[in-house]
Amino acid sequence: MTDTESTPVRSMDRLREIAGVAARAANAHNTQPWELRFRSDHVEVGWRTQYALGPSDPAHRDLRLSLGTYVESLLICAAEAGIPVRWEPDFDVDATRVGRLRPDEWPTASPRSVADVEGRRVWRGAWKREQVPAEALHRARRTAEEAGFRVAVVPTQAARPLLVRAYHWFFGDAGIAAELLAWARLSPRHPEYRRDGLNDVMLVLSRAEALAMRMFFAPPVYRALRPLGLVRLLTTLSSGATRGEGVVLVILGKGNDPADEVEAGRLVTRLWLDLFRDGIHVHPQSHVIDCPGTVGDLARLCGATDGERPLVFFRVGYPATDPAARPRHPRRESAEHISA
Ligand SMILES: Cc1cc2nc3c(=O)[nH]c(=O)nc-3n(C[C@H](O)[C@H](O)[C@H](O)COP(=O)(O)O)c2cc1C
Repeated sequence: MTDTESTPVRSMDRLREIAGVAARAANAHNTQPWELRFRSDHVEVGWRTQYALGPSDPAHRDLRLSLGTYVESLLICAAEAGIPVRWEPDFDVDATRVGRLRPDEWPTASPRSVADVEGRRVWRGAWKREQVPAEALHRARRTAEEAGFRVAVVPTQAARPLLVRAYHWFFGDAGIAAELLAWARLSPRHPEYRRDGLNDVMLVLSRAEALAMRMFFAPPVYRALRPLGLVRLLTTLSSGATRGEGVVLVILGKGNDPADEVEAGRLVTRLWLDLFRDGIHVHPQSHVIDCPGTVGDLARLCGATDGERPLVFFRVGYPATDPAARPRHPRRESAEHISA
């Protein structure tokens, strides 16, 4: 093979350099499920089944969304590094694959940057009263339309009763509670504290709350206290995402093709980075869509028509305290996201 022929393949190898930054992508429970598989003439993007959630992601929608957020982050980082790649979706559940990155002739430009990817973070704390400007909401709607989806803007007051019901369902399920505890890193002494999962600081828990969570979610205590009002207590403590006056954005898609959920995940990254650049923060809440008792009402609230269904639900707004004062959720070393 001549030098010229090998160049595109060599440029694919440079994806190893950006894999670590791209892993800053938002992902459910911070399990970082993605895997880059280097083949002779392309790079496959897939997932490791041990990082797929169980009861907390019953339809594996969050898994596919999280793989999409990663693909989009990779493409943004590749564009800035001048690596010419194109994305070829090819979802295959048996091959645990969502698609391939192939060498392209020219690098693609992106309006979003590596700094955006690195800076973005989730916000689970309290919100200011300040409202998200209409222009930011218009832009989100436009970006969604360009990607073949729709964004519905729902007032928090209308969304809140659904969120409360969904939390009740969420905390009432022993499997979901156990999985949340398994991915919670409630003290810096946890062996995986600097690698993955949900840490006490970014869950916005005080030391006492972290301690209480560890205690309440331990299976024997959970079983004993569940009939005595534990679920109601946890629901009250956790429904902050729709408190106050503000808005929730809901991404709606059509049909049931799992590959579309990967594309919706790519859209999540675009929307989130655009909002983040304007100082607007995001708190996704998956269980409103997972809960069989709320998803239909949410669809109605969004005016869903013609086979549309909600895929992502997130509060947007301005944090009441400085999010940058909190250490970010960690990521595993980039080598751990790469196979071969
Ligand atoms: C598909 C998806 C679903 C998510 N669902 C929730 C959720 O239900 N509740 C929540 O607090 N955060 C949720 N998140 C945010 C993740 O927990 C967060 O991205 C992850 O912990 C990494 O933190 P970072 O975004 O600050 O890097 C979700 C993120 C994604 C991409």
